[in-house]
Amino acid sequence: MTKDAAASLGVFDSGLGGLTVVRALARSLPHEGVTYFGDTARVPYGNKSARTVSRLSLEAMRFLEHFGVKALVVACNSASALAMDALRREAAVPVVGVVEAGAEAAAAATRNGTVGVIGPRATVGSGCYDRELARLRPGTTVVSNPCPLFVPLVEEGWTDEAVTRSVAERYLEPLRVAGVDTVILGCTHYPLLADVIGEVMGEGVRLIDSGEAVAATVGALLEREGIAAGGSAPAVRRYFVSDQADRFSAEARRFLGDLAADGARAVDQSDLPWYDRPWLDDPTKGQA
Ligand code: DGL
Repeated sequence: MTKDAAASLGVFDSGLGGLTVVRALARSLPHEGVTYFGDTARVPYGNKSARTVSRLSLEAMRFLEHFGVKALVVACNSASALAMDALRREAAVPVVGVVEAGAEAAAAATRNGTVGVIGPRATVGSGCYDRELARLRPGTTVVSNPCPLFVPLVEEGWTDEAVTRSVAERYLEPLRVAGVDTVILGCTHYPLLADVIGEVMGEGVRLIDSGEAVAATVGALLEREGIAAGGSAPAVRRYFVSDQADRFSAEARRFLGDLAADGARAVDQSDLPWYDRPWLDDPTKGQA
């Protein structure tokens, strides 16, 4: 690990959804290189335990460390919800997660102090956004609802179908009834549903894209640490997945939009041994 402005940002996710974060990083920090790891062999993280998500996240971090990344961006909401303590305890570089960034953006955006949170079960169930919002803006009312069907709908490419709209209406009803004025899209996949979510929530409700929020946080961090990339060379973005590299190009397009990606390399899964740390079994050291 290094404090080198020319080094890339390490970004990881449970799969390819985190490419929405890469897209946001490319838009706001176009000169920054990215080394991305998508754990396509073990996706989803959103229905796994805190202990498992922590282990998988530590393995992803160790993999990215081999590339001398200058900061780690946790693109996966589930990992940001459940593994930040473990990652920060072990990382040699700054670690930035989508949950903290998204909560910060929501705390700044809300006018009526009633914020909606949607995400996978693991993220919503962890209460991570509630805790962050309580810290950043005491007195905020948080209304959350897990939306597990959104991920498969996006992966099916059904971002603009009647079925998606009716699923959204059902999931978002409690948020509408509560009168939230801001909704945190607490999952890598949800920015692709922003249109339908926006329509269902109605005008005047702000949607917080955690990818955009984290890109702003990363930009500020790089400036503060004096490790922002110079603009002379084009940013290199390289992609690794733990399974099905042959499907990367076709599926990545959905999340990357117009950002080109040539392909991904498959990681030898034996490079990702279950990560063993004594503290995982020692309740006095904190991690669930
Ligand atoms: N990338 C995950 C997240 O943002 C969604 C998919 C999964 O459950 O792993 O939480």
